[in-house]
Amino acid sequence: MNDKPAEAARDLGAEADFEAFPAPVEVDNEPYFIVKNAESSAEPYRLISAICPHAGGEVRVYGTEFVCPMHFWTFDMQSGECTNVDGEKLACAPVFVRDGRLYADFPDGKSVKSGTIGRSAERSNAEKGACSRSRS
Ligand code: FES
Repeated sequence: MNDKPAEAARDLGAEADFEAFPAPVEVDNEPYFIVKNAESSAEPYRLISAICPHAGGEVRVYGTEFVCPMHFWTFDMQSGECTNVDGEKLACAPVFVRDGRLYADFPDGKSVKSGTIGRSAERSNAEKGACSRSRS
């Protein structure tokens, strides 16, 4: 059971409605993927932005990675980390389950993608590390 207030997070939909992952979703009219988190059973899902931090291309699922069709940056599907350019990462947020629904735990209640397109170097450490935050 998660003690996060659902009101402060974004409702992504009923867990039962997602049959396959990564599952494409929109938050604030921006594309994301919900992925299964193989690293933690306490945090079974993550939300990863589909917007490439390089120049705003929309990444797609290709095999076991996300690939940006603009300049072919590739990203790990679990962490969002770029696998061919050091230090880059898709924006991401933890997801928690409450009462059978998935909620994205955005910092300050805002989409983690906001303000990051094309300016990945300016992202705050909090945004970069959003996926790896541990819950208490
Ligand atoms: S915009 Fe994605 S690799 Fe350039």
